[in-house]
Amino acid sequence: MDKIYLTTPIYYVNDEPHIGHAYPTVLADTLARFHRLLGHRTYFLTGTDEHGQKLQDSAAAKGYQPQEYCDMIVERFQDAWKKLGVANNDFIRTTEPRHKRIVSRILERLYESKNESGQSQIYMDYYEGWYCKFEERYWTEKDLIGGNCPDCGRPVQKLSEKNYFFRMSHYQQWLIQYIKEHPGFILPENRRNEVLGFLKNPLGDLCISRPKSRLSWGIELPFDKDYVCYVWFDALINYISALGFDPDSGRFELDWWPAVHLIGKDILTTHSVYWPCMLKAIGLPMPQTILATGWWLREGAKMSKSLGNVVKPLDLADKFGSDAFRFLLLREMTLGQDAVFSEESFINRYNSDLANDLGNLLSRILKMIESYCDGFIPHPDNGSSDGKMVQNLQQLRADVAQDIEHFKLNGCLEKIMEFVRSLNQYIELNRPWDLAKSGETAKLGHVLYTAAEGLWNASVLLSPVMPQKAAEIQTSLGYLPDKISLSRLKPWNNLPPGSKIKAGIQLFPRHEKIVASDTLKIQDKAEAAMTNTVSIEDFGKLELRVAEIISAEKVSGADKLLKLNIKIGDDTRQIVAGIAKFYDPAVLIGKKIAVVANLQPAKIRGIESHGMLLAASKDGNLTILVPDRDIDSGAKIS
Ligand code: ME8
Ligand code: MG
Repeated sequence: MDKIYLTTPIYYVNDEPHIGHAYPTVLADTLARFHRLLGHRTYFLTGTDEHGQKLQDSAAAKGYQPQEYCDMIVERFQDAWKKLGVANNDFIRTTEPRHKRIVSRILERLYESKNESGQSQIYMDYYEGWYCKFEERYWTEKDLIGGNCPDCGRPVQKLSEKNYFFRMSHYQQWLIQYIKEHPGFILPENRRNEVLGFLKNPLGDLCISRPKSRLSWGIELPFDKDYVCYVWFDALINYISALGFDPDSGRFELDWWPAVHLIGKDILTTHSVYWPCMLKAIGLPMPQTILATGWWLREGAKMSKSLGNVVKPLDLADKFGSDAFRFLLLREMTLGQDAVFSEESFINRYNSDLANDLGNLLSRILKMIESYCDGFIPHPDNGSSDGKMVQNLQQLRADVAQDIEHFKLNGCLEKIMEFVRSLNQYIELNRPWDLAKSGETAKLGHVLYTAAEGLWNASVLLSPVMPQKAAEIQTSLGYLPDKISLSRLKPWNNLPPGSKIKAGIQLFPRHEKIVASDTLKIQDKAEAAMTNTVSIEDFGKLELRVAEIISAEKVSGADKLLKLNIKIGDDTRQIVAGIAKFYDPAVLIGKKIAVVANLQPAKIRGIESHGMLLAASKDGNLTILVPDRDIDSGAKIS
């Protein structure tokens, strides 16, 4: 893969940008920057979805014309992305003429054309059923829940009207086959299975028109001026209209298709069912990959404007700095899974990874080069080489390339940070301050060169996530190349000895920690316990075992609790643990943990708990204890 076309969802401009929008955008930007670093030809598109009912309503509610309203809100998105260092190649707005023209021509051609069975691709029919104005979609009687919209719970209205339909049903068997034959088409695996599950039921045709009597803010149907196009049919086409697709010749002005679509799991069906069928009807190849991410949750619910629980990305970028915020967003979410947003865990991660590990590494290296080498990068002594370090770096570069190809960003960041930590350990181990005292100048120069070269290389690998901070590190180390391509870097010795460093920079100032009162209590108890001693016999009464988590779920009505099913050897049982604020249930499944197996069973909030897991907590931070190496569940802990 030496060419990649990355897209984000195009965001509705009835909403202010929040971290749910920032996440796919920063993710796409970082992936795009990684691909550029790897020397791949890369194109990255984002934009805004500006038609439809919600937009029309939001504009009206605030006393604006729809277009005027779009023009105003789109700037907030564009400003936010600029502030977050997002370097997209293009920004598409669905109200732009270049987009509307192509949508209209696609509709016209589909209306005139027939599928392989000789049926019209688009046909008119009388529709009877229920309509949810808010979700802009039609439902059948059996879809409704308690007479309301199954998606948003709002009341629906009964309709009987003429509409236009895209004959999507025709493509059902083909699509099932395609998904089965292309394992990387929908990722992750569980989303692929979800789509295959959805396709087990008969696929209906897609109603692609909305009568202007109900909704006027949309692209007019070229074959019936009383209707506008359904917002999703219009929006999905952005991915090809931005490339200047010509529906008549089937060619693109910009040759990037097919795309890797980054989307949220809420828009899986539209992207993995509607869109492939549309592309098939248009005669285009399928997207390379549709990658569905999880949600940022807060107080157990998806962050969204209507719930009033959003976190504004610019507030966080102001607090942590834009680059650190990017790092935290990507580090704190495992791709594909939900993540619970907590400012505490952002602060903790910031302090440990960025302020401590990375920031301190830079300042100590700079300080030592300043005082022991007059501020010039020393010469490495190639006689006393650090082969292991060089080898680790090669391995890291290969791992990063692999992880990026598989979209595993948080794992990749963890590996880079592991390398950063190994540099701190290298300094501890080689004690340059002692070498300076004993006058071992050659060895001192070598050790400082190794640490500086290591950090410089770490900064190159971190540059896609933190472009400005990476450049600051490189400037401080006296070597900021114009454009770096990983394949053109030397395995080692990239930093030119003799360059002047720039000391005095504080990369990541520490942030104050928030102390949560509930974890404080646990801590007090732990401290009290430390002052008492127990005999080995007393300790022996505890049966501590390794367990494997089989399933995990939230306990409704208790926002701190998770209910876990665990396996201890052949025994399966249920425990309740107060870790919901710190762990998303999905990430726990399959983890090995430490439990007290012979604790008396108890009921917690009415739920049977048979055992207790071990966790460590301090300053509002909590971690469960896991074995360092893999070991079978049931193993005894002593
Ligand atoms: O659905 N956590 O736009 P949209 C994570 N216009 N991601 C979130 C999120 C959250 N709490 N909230 C939103 C639309 N997102 C359509 C898309 S594409 C042709 C048309 C992300 O403004 C997530 O990726 O509602 C979601 O799919 C996307 O924002 C949609 O934002
Ligand atoms: Mg949405």
